[in-house]
Amino acid sequence: MLLSLVSKLEAVIVVALVIHMIGAVYGSGAESDRLALLEIKSKITYDPQGALPSWNDSLPFCQWRGVTCGRRHRRVTMLELPDLGLVGSLSPYLGNMSFLRYINLDSNQLHGSIPPEISRLYRLQSLSLFNNSLTGEIPANMSSCPKLSLIELERNKLSGKIPNAFSSKSMITFLSLSKNDFTGGIPPSLGNLTSLEILILTYCQLGGKIPDSLKQLKKLRKIGLGENGLVGAIPSFFFNLSMLEVLSFPENQLQGSLPSNLCLSQPRLKWIGLHTNNFTGFLPPSISNCSKLEILELNFNDLNGKIATDFGRLQHLRDLSLGGNKFGSKDHGDMNFFHSLSNCSNLIHLELSYNQLGGVLPSSIGNFSSKLSSLGLDSNYLSGTIPSSIRNLLGLTAISLGSNGFTGMIPESIGELQTLQILFLHNNHFSGVIPRSIGNLSLLVEVTLAGNSLEGTIPSTIGSWKQVIGLDLQGNKLSGSVPKELFQLSSLSISLILSQNNLSGALPQEIGNLKLLGILDFSMNRFTGELPSSLSSCASLENLNLSSNLFYGSLSGSFSSLKGLEYVDLSHNNFSGHVPTYLCWCTCVCTLSVFGLYVNDVQVSLVSLTKSTILLV
Ligand SMILES: *[C@@H]1O[C@H](CO)[C@@H](O)[C@H](O)[C@H]1NC(C)=O
Ligand SMILES: *[C@@H]1O[C@H](CO)[C@@H](O)[C@H](O)[C@H]1NC(C)=O
Ligand SMILES: *[C@@H]1O[C@H](CO)[C@@H](O)[C@H](O)[C@H]1NC(C)=O
Ligand SMILES: *[C@@H]1O[C@H](CO)[C@@H](O)[C@H](O)[C@H]1NC(C)=O
Ligand SMILES: *[C@@H]1O[C@H](CO)[C@@H](O)[C@H](O)[C@H]1NC(C)=O
Ligand SMILES: *[C@@H]1O[C@H](CO)[C@@H](O)[C@H](O)[C@H]1NC(C)=O
Ligand SMILES: *[C@@H]1O[C@H](CO)[C@@H](O)[C@H](O)[C@H]1NC(C)=O
Ligand SMILES: *[C@@H]1O[C@H](CO)[C@@H](O)[C@H](O)[C@H]1NC(C)=O
Ligand SMILES: *[C@@H]1O[C@H](CO)[C@@H](O)[C@H](O)[C@H]1NC(C)=O
Ligand SMILES: *[C@@H]1O[C@H](CO)[C@@H](O)[C@H](O)[C@H]1NC(C)=O
Ligand SMILES: *[C@@H]1O[C@H](CO)[C@@H](O)[C@H](O)[C@H]1NC(C)=O
Ligand SMILES: *[C@@H]1O[C@H](CO)[C@@H](O)[C@H](O)[C@H]1NC(C)=O
Repeated sequence: MLLSLVSKLEAVIVVALVIHMIGAVYGSGAESDRLALLEIKSKITYDPQGALPSWNDSLPFCQWRGVTCGRRHRRVTMLELPDLGLVGSLSPYLGNMSFLRYINLDSNQLHGSIPPEISRLYRLQSLSLFNNSLTGEIPANMSSCPKLSLIELERNKLSGKIPNAFSSKSMITFLSLSKNDFTGGIPPSLGNLTSLEILILTYCQLGGKIPDSLKQLKKLRKIGLGENGLVGAIPSFFFNLSMLEVLSFPENQLQGSLPSNLCLSQPRLKWIGLHTNNFTGFLPPSISNCSKLEILELNFNDLNGKIATDFGRLQHLRDLSLGGNKFGSKDHGDMNFFHSLSNCSNLIHLELSYNQLGGVLPSSIGNFSSKLSSLGLDSNYLSGTIPSSIRNLLGLTAISLGSNGFTGMIPESIGELQTLQILFLHNNHFSGVIPRSIGNLSLLVEVTLAGNSLEGTIPSTIGSWKQVIGLDLQGNKLSGSVPKELFQLSSLSISLILSQNNLSGALPQEIGNLKLLGILDFSMNRFTGELPSSLSSCASLENLNLSSNLFYGSLSGSFSSLKGLEYVDLSHNNFSGHVPTYLCWCTCVCTLSVFGLYVNDVQVSLVSLTKSTILLV
C-alpha cells in the first residue's frame, strides 16, 4: 500500500518532470527566438522610422513589428523589415531562429558581413537583402540550406569569389547577385542549380568565360550576365534552352557570330540583349521566328551584311536597336527590310544609327506604329527626301537623321509631330527654308539643323520652343536678322550656335534673357552694331564667340558680370577703345583662358590677361 502510494507519487513526479521538460524544450526554443530578436535589435544603431521600440516586453515577440510566428508552435517564421532605413549589422543570433522560412530586410543600410550562422536555418526558403551595404564574401555554406529557393543580394558591396559550392541537391530557383564587387569568374557549380529559373549576375566584374556547366540549367527563364568583362563565345547550348525568355549579356567582350538557329528552339524569347560586345557576322533571319520578341538589342557590335530579317511577324517588338554595327553596303537595297517593320504595331524605339545603310528612307515609315517614339538613323548613307508620310508618326519624341545624304526641303508636315523633343537633321544636304510650322513643335528640347544648305530667315515661330536647351543652326545659308523671339527662349542652357551663316543686324537687348546659356557662338556672320549692355546678364556664359562679324564700338559694360567665361573670341570685328578692367580682373580671378581680339582697334597695353592666351591682338 505504502509502496504503491510511493510509486504513485513517483509516477506523478515523473509525469510532472516530463511535462516540465517538454515545457522547457518549447520554452527554450521560443526563448532563443526572443533572445535572437533582441540581439538583432541591439545591432541596429539607427532606426529613423522608430520601427523597433515596439520590440519590448509589453507584447509577446510574435506581435512585434515585422515578426510573424507559426500558429501552433509560436516560433518566428518570417522576419520582414524592408524600407525602414535601418542602420547596423546582422547579428549571428539570426541563425538561432530555426523556424525561419522567410527573411526580407531589403533597402535598409545594413553593413558588415552576412553571418555564416545563417546556414543553420534549415527551413529557410527566401533570403532577401537587396539594396544594403553588406560587405565581405557570401558565406560558402549558405547554399546548403536545403529548402532555400530565393537568394536576392543585389545592390550590396559583397566581394571575393562567388562560392563554388552549389550542390546538386539545391532547390534554388532565383539567384540575384547583381551590383556587387565579385571577382573570379562565374563558378562552374552554378550548373548544379538545376531548379534555377532566374539567374542575375549583372554588374559584378566577374571576368572569364561562361562555364559549360550552365547547360544543365534547363529550366532557366531569365539570365542576366551584363557588365562583367566576360570573354569568349556564348556557348551554343544557350540557344537550345527552350524555356528562355530573357537572354541578356550586354557590355562584355563576348565574340563570335550569332547562331543561324537563333530563336528556332526558343519560342518564349522576349528579350535578346547582346549590345556592346564584339559579335561579328550576320543578323540571323531566323529571328523572325521569335514571335514573342519584345526587345532586340544588338547595338555596338561588329555585325555586318544586309539586314535580311522579316520583322513582320514580331507583333510584340518594342525596341529594335541595331545601331553601331556595319549593317548595309551603302547601297540602295539596304533598306528593303524596312517595310516589314510597319507590321510591328508595338514598335516604340528604332535605332539603326552608325551603320552603312544606303538607299532612301522608305515612305512605308508612315505606316509604322503610331507608338513609335524614337527613330535613329544617324550616320548612315541614306539619301533622298524625308517622306511626307512621316506626319503619321504622331508619337515621335526623337528623330535623328544626322550625317546622311538627305536632300530636299524639311517637310512642312514635320510641324504635325507635336510631341517631338529631339530633332537632329545636321550634316545633310537639306535646302530651302526652315518651315514656319517647326514652331508648332512646342516641346522641342534639342534641335540641330547644322551643316545643311538652309536659306532664308530663321522663322519667328520658334518663339514657342519654351523648353529648348540647345539650338545649332551653324553652317547654313541663313540670312536676315535674327527674330527677337529667339532671344526670349530663356530655357536655352547648353548652346545657341548660329555661326557660319549670313545673318545680319544688331543684337537686341533681349539677349539678356539668356541667363542660363553656356555657349553663344555667332561667329562668321554679318552681325553689326554695338554689343548690347544686357549681354552682361548672360551670367552663365562660358564660351562667347562673336568673331568675324561687323560689330563695332567699345567693349565697356558688356562683360562686367560674366565671371564664368573660359573662351572669348571677338577677333575680326571693328571694336575700339580699351579692354575693360573687369575683363582683366576676371582673367586674374576666374577661368578665362582664350581671349581673341585679332583685327580690332583695341588697346590692351594696360591690362594683364595673366591666365589667357591672347589671340593675336
Ligand atoms: C513597447 O511597445 C509598445 C507597442 O508594442 C509601445 O506602445 C511602447 O511605447 C513600447 N515601449 C517602449 C518603452 O518603447
Ligand atoms: C544563439 O547564437 C549565438 C551566436 O551565434 C550563440 O552565442 C548562442 O549561444 C545561441 N543560442 C541561444 C539559445 O541563444
Ligand atoms: C535603396 O535603399 C535606399 C534607402 O536605403 C532607397 O532610398 C533607395 O531608393 C533604394 N534603391 C532602390 C533601387 O530600391
Ligand atoms: C555538384 O554537386 C555535386 C553534389 O552535390 C558535387 O559533388 C559536385 O562537385 C557539384 N558540381 C560542381 C561543378 O560543383
Ligand atoms: C541543341 O538541340 C539540337 C536538337 O534538339 C541538338 O541536336 C544539339 O546537339 C543541341 N545543341 C547543344 C549545344 O546542346
Ligand atoms: C521559322 O521556323 C520554321 C519552323 O521551324 C522554319 O521552317 C523556318 O525556316 C524558320 N524561318 C526562318 C526565317 O528561319
Ligand atoms: C502582319 O501581322 C499579321 C498579324 O497582325 C500577320 O497575320 C501577317 O502575316 C503579318 N504580315 C507580315 C508581312 O509578316
Ligand atoms: C501603307 O498602308 C496602306 C494601307 O495598309 C497601304 O495601302 C500603303 O500601300 C502602305 N504604304 C506604304 C508606303 O507601304
Ligand atoms: C502649325 O504651324 C502653321 C504655320 O506656323 C500654322 O498655320 C498651323 O496652324 C499650325 N498648326 C497647328 C496644329 O498648330
Ligand atoms: C549675304 O547677304 C547679303 C545681303 O545681306 C547678300 O548681299 C550676300 O550675297 C549674301 N551672301 C551669301 C554668301 O549668301
Ligand atoms: C570662334 O569661331 C571661329 C569660326 O567659327 C573659330 O575658328 C574659332 O576657333 C572660334 N574661337 C574660339 C575661341 O572657339
Ligand atoms: C571700323 O570703324 C571705323 C570707325 O570707328 C570706321 O571708320 C571703319 O570704316 C570701320 N571698318 C569697317 C570694316 O567697318
